Amino acid sequence: MNKVTAVANTNIALVKYWGKRDIPLNLPAVGSISLTLEGLLTETHVEFKTELSHDVFVMNGETVHGKPLIRLISFLDKVRAIANQKNYAHISTHNNFPTASGLASSASGFAALALAATRAAGLELSGRDLSILARQGSGSACRSIFGGFVEWHRGERADGLDSYAEPIGGDDWDVRLVVGVTSEGKKAVLSTDGMEHTRTTSPYYQTWVAESPRDLKEAKQAISARNIEKLGVVTERSCLRMHASALGADPGVAYFRGATIEGYHRIVALRKEGVPAWFTCDAGPHIKALTAAENAEKVAAALAEVPGVLRTQICAPGRAARVITGREERA
Ligand code: PMV
Repeated sequence: MNKVTAVANTNIALVKYWGKRDIPLNLPAVGSISLTLEGLLTETHVEFKTELSHDVFVMNGETVHGKPLIRLISFLDKVRAIANQKNYAHISTHNNFPTASGLASSASGFAALALAATRAAGLELSGRDLSILARQGSGSACRSIFGGFVEWHRGERADGLDSYAEPIGGDDWDVRLVVGVTSEGKKAVLSTDGMEHTRTTSPYYQTWVAESPRDLKEAKQAISARNIEKLGVVTERSCLRMHASALGADPGVAYFRGATIEGYHRIVALRKEGVPAWFTCDAGPHIKALTAAENAEKVAAALAEVPGVLRTQICAPGRAARVITGREERA
């Protein structure tokens, strides 16, 4: 089989990853915990062909050039090296949500590419090995290999073999992540640049790193106890501290837009009105809220009224990355 199509859902970190301990290998300074989201997905088709003289990438119908292409080729080179594959590949990939805008397109993108490319190259990697490979494309991609609640281990080793993601249970727990999309454009500072700038210039960075183990521990306890209040408190805290470290960089990195802050205040007010929901936000302006399934419609309606919110989407816990045969629903 040298032609494979795979899909992967994006994931949103509840306990954030921000800062690397190794840049080429994408090894994180802190562990993280995410929820894979059903329906925000990337579909990627990979075909290795003898007649190609270079790799061809088509993303959302447009041929990829420049830096993004170099990043994709260097990822494919890793696959070729493990599989002893000599051919170049034709890759077409499609996101069903805005690319590079803080909705974690690189997470679903590199997870789908890792799965499709390894299978097309004749490899059948374990979930852990796929996660280690996907991590090298984009850190958060290692979590999108799996469904539901996922932990990405920081690891200690210099070669990164102990820095992989794995599912941590909670699959029967009916939570929702409500997304308030505030822009369809690309973000100004890519996460990889923003986190490195934070690491090297923010006086708050070391504190962010030092506080993270407590967030990981409490989030895991909350997931195993199915305690959404406790998980929500950690989720919001981890997000605000990550952004605080970035805002404290020199010069500061601000991913929030006006609508993001208004969304945050609306979520805090919802709690006071008896609709428990907790704010999170990544390296982009979108508002995200963790809530119980029964409150998701109310939270979405409240976010839809925030000025600057273009649309909302309610996401249930998502499935793991998988190969599709053509009969399955497409992105
Ligand atoms: O994996 P990257 O380079 O896209 O970085 C992801 C960074 C955050 O989304 C802000 C946090 C996270 O843990 O996903």
